[in-house]
Amino acid sequence: MKLFDVYPLYDIEPVKGYGAYVYDGAGNRYLDLYGGHAVISIGHAHPTYVEAISRQVSLLGFYSNSVQNKLQQELADRLGEQSGLHDHQLFLINSGAEANENALKLASFHNNRSAVLALKKGFHGRTSAAVRATDNPRIQAAINQGIEVTYLELEDLDAIRNHLLSKKYTAFIVEAIQGIGGIHVADPSALLQVREWCRETDTLFISDEIQCGYGRSGMFFAYQAIPDLEPDLVTVAKGMGNGFPIGGLLIHPRFKAWHGMLGTTFGGSHLACAAGIAVLEVIEKEKLVEKTAQLGQYLMERLTEVPGLVEIRGRGLMVGIELDGPVAALRKRLLFEKHIFTGSSSDPNVIRLLPPLNIQKVQLNEFLQAFTEIMQSTPAL
Ligand SMILES: Cc1ncc(COP(=O)(O)O)c(C=O)c1O
Repeated sequence: MKLFDVYPLYDIEPVKGYGAYVYDGAGNRYLDLYGGHAVISIGHAHPTYVEAISRQVSLLGFYSNSVQNKLQQELADRLGEQSGLHDHQLFLINSGAEANENALKLASFHNNRSAVLALKKGFHGRTSAAVRATDNPRIQAAINQGIEVTYLELEDLDAIRNHLLSKKYTAFIVEAIQGIGGIHVADPSALLQVREWCRETDTLFISDEIQCGYGRSGMFFAYQAIPDLEPDLVTVAKGMGNGFPIGGLLIHPRFKAWHGMLGTTFGGSHLACAAGIAVLEVIEKEKLVEKTAQLGQYLMERLTEVPGLVEIRGRGLMVGIELDGPVAALRKRLLFEKHIFTGSSSDPNVIRLLPPLNIQKVQLNEFLQAFTEIMQSTPAL
């Protein structure tokens, strides 16, 4: 059987990893400034994580959501404590798209509306409502078109207000820092204003923290950089499991559950919870949120010294570097000549940096030196 060929692949095969490095079968070492697409939060093969998953799989990897599973509550307690959202409720699933899908569904259960207000350049996943809320018609099939979505610029506050006042939108969904769109930090005052209008019109405010959350921005959630911004629903995945498929929907206490309202077979399995708990344990013990803020500031400051960059954007270890031309060839040179993984974005001129949160300063310096050399020796972008 052939694989369904949907991914353009680099001719590199990592077979093991440790910290911020991955290694191919020939022993070549690659510095991971991409984090396997913002997934690797506590580093590859972290001993605490390896031990926790190994122990759990030898005990009980899975049983269904029809029985008691204390690990789910332990994960929820830790997440509440570390994120500051003590009173929220947690629904566990397996991926980011599922988190957003369930968030939109919950919103629709709440206010019985069906349209979604989303932002231009936003990305929210590949499943039916999540992909429809994603501003990219190329990845939407006819079956996705049934859900009504309006995409607006956050700067266009008049339009947002008018749309919300129609009271037809079940939810407004936003990334506090857009990832795939090219690392754009949302304007705090605009988000606060939209939050207020959402409250007035009973439109649910969903903060998609799947890429920018879990410490990556230097705060537990990126929206928390905006004091008083209180989303109704927060969606998480990626860094939550450090590679183990797990996602979560954090639900404000004012929303009440009923049996059967949401559900999943695999979500919240024993193994997934063990992975999620280990990630939070390491984030806390190693003070990774604080370290991410410091390292991110260092990285962005040092990047300003690199000649020829148009803009450096982002927060924490979620950094976008805009050049005045396409970055694809330069990223390839970084990978094949310097053995450094970086990320692309939907903007061809932007490189995305999403390293593990426990990357070391010397490793960032290794990147900065290699990047400067490649910039200096690339004739024209
Ligand atoms: C902001 C955001 N939301 C949702 C998703 C979808 O997550 P998943 O691929 O786990 O379904 C992504 C994935 O890149 C993302 O960046």
